[in-house]
Amino acid sequence: MLLVWTTDLHLNSVSTLAWKKWIHKTASQGADGIVITGDISEGDDVVRQLHRIADATGIPIYFVLGNHDFYESSLQATRHDVIHACREHEQLHYLTDLSPIQLTPTTHLLGDDGWADATVGDYETSTIRLNDFDRIDDFKASGKTAWKEQLQQIGAASAKRLQAKLNQLPPDAQQVLVLTHVPPFREACWYEGKTANDNWAPFFVSGQVGKELMLFSQQKPEYELTVLCGHTHHAGIARLTPNLIVHTGAAAYGHPDVEGIISMRSGNLQVNVIGNQISG
Ligand SMILES: [Fe+2]
Ligand SMILES: [Fe+2]
Repeated sequence: MLLVWTTDLHLNSVSTLAWKKWIHKTASQGADGIVITGDISEGDDVVRQLHRIADATGIPIYFVLGNHDFYESSLQATRHDVIHACREHEQLHYLTDLSPIQLTPTTHLLGDDGWADATVGDYETSTIRLNDFDRIDDFKASGKTAWKEQLQQIGAASAKRLQAKLNQLPPDAQQVLVLTHVPPFREACWYEGKTANDNWAPFFVSGQVGKELMLFSQQKPEYELTVLCGHTHHAGIARLTPNLIVHTGAAAYGHPDVEGIISMRSGNLQVNVIGNQISG
């Protein structure tokens, strides 16, 4: 069982040539499926792009959505459209809406979008202002004073869904592959080889999702948790506990790439990073 991992495709700003290169590279891995950790496109285009990827590759697509996937739309409308698209297309699997999926006798896949939820770092003094606030209807409608609470609520909802999915894992599962968009820990939030400071962390760490993952890894040491995420566009690996590791994927706007290959053989799950090779 092999999966191709890719993240932060941002296909709304990708040329036909770059798309063809990416599809060719993806298809040539001979994988059984594709995993995508969000920022596939934007809200008014994401369904079209999901169909385009499915039709071009012919293999199952397991994905979560990133903050950009809600641009020019709302969380509810985008999720509604994406869930509907998955019902129409058997290759598409939106993990935020799904229970754990068994990939091999001992490996299960689950995921949730996650959200940078203002629970890590210092939101009050941060100078960062994401485009999310101007381009996602939920934030445009509420206004600045409501944003912190809103971020925390979206993060809490994501953490609650994730907790429910973790609790659905069968007792004989050994490896658990978790997809989410935003790094769930500051230690996994990479930028040019360093992790996020207090200024960036409120908008780049999905703290409540991280808490659930940490708690689960400590309470259930018999499960090996491998988390894949994106959002920062800079790569890194962070081992949080003996049974919890987080791989953060790199990405360059306009140049979608293959981040890595996940192999599952004889009870072992391995992430082989091969990305970042497309230049210019
Ligand atoms: Fe992104
Ligand atoms: Fe993102």
